[in-house]
Amino acid sequence: MARHFLNLADVGCAGLRALLDAAHARKAARAGWPQGRVDGDAPLADHVLAAVFEKPSTRTRLSFDIAMRQLGGATITLAAGDMQLGRGETVGDTARALSGYVDAIAIRANRHADVQALAAEAGVPVINALTDWSHPCQIVADVMTVEESLRSSVAGLRWAWLGDGNNVAHSLIEAADLLGFELALAVPEGHDPDPALLAGSRGVHVTRDAAAAVRRADVVVTDTWVSMGQAGGAAKMAAMAPYQVTAALMAKALPHAVFLHCLPAHRGEEVTGDVIDGPQSRVWAEAANRVHAQKAILLWALGRL
Ligand code: CP
Ligand code: NVA
Repeated sequence: MARHFLNLADVGCAGLRALLDAAHARKAARAGWPQGRVDGDAPLADHVLAAVFEKPSTRTRLSFDIAMRQLGGATITLAAGDMQLGRGETVGDTARALSGYVDAIAIRANRHADVQALAAEAGVPVINALTDWSHPCQIVADVMTVEESLRSSVAGLRWAWLGDGNNVAHSLIEAADLLGFELALAVPEGHDPDPALLAGSRGVHVTRDAAAAVRRADVVVTDTWVSMGQAGGAAKMAAMAPYQVTAALMAKALPHAVFLHCLPAHRGEEVTGDVIDGPQSRVWAEAANRVHAQKAILLWALGRL
């Protein structure tokens, strides 16, 4: 059975800790190296990743490719629309064909169910590179960034999420459960996270009050108000407006609090420019850490962790 990385829960507590430790260690081991230099142990030499994208991507696409190079392997990046998938070939047939060519598949898809179907038929590990339901790769980089900025373990920290309770928020909820941090999600009515996920989580709660969520928080996180493939519209923007991360809101968090955003950002919508471009923002470290996170995820999926 291939080891699929569809959600953080697939990895479990100990697995996620091991994965984060590997990401930190690999980053430390290559401080100052050029991006193209291969890690000394080249653990994925001769391995090939297929990275399939049904939706746009900058960070995920680049970080998987660079991660594979640094691990000694190679990546073939494919736009789903250029594949027979775009002309109606089934996900299952695509999975079986790709499994004959590559050692692992990363896929960004509109529907989470398609990634589950791909994993069910693939003979190689499948990694979720974002779906409508979750974005687990992102949260590995986010936790890594907080551990670098604040302390070596996120356990016991208070995180505040502001805005839409969809894919990135879902993976953050899973991480809170697995790693033992508190998470307050300030979300407008109608945009709550999946109720089943919330019901099964500890230390996680939803509020309509942005200030209450941020009070005494160590970490403040937000995301776009209009995710890829979603309709925006005036009603949604109005519902989200009270959840904008402003300097006044950040001032309610702890003085050492850091700001995260998976990016791409929309200044003047989910966050103001003075916050995302200000001293508490860690968004560029967060984006860069995607490479180290992807490396650990690839190694876990290929049974090397
Ligand atoms: N955060 C993130 O996944 O960015 P991309 O959409 O650019 O890959
Ligand atoms: N929630 C966003 C995340 C982008 C990385 C989206 O799905 O578009």
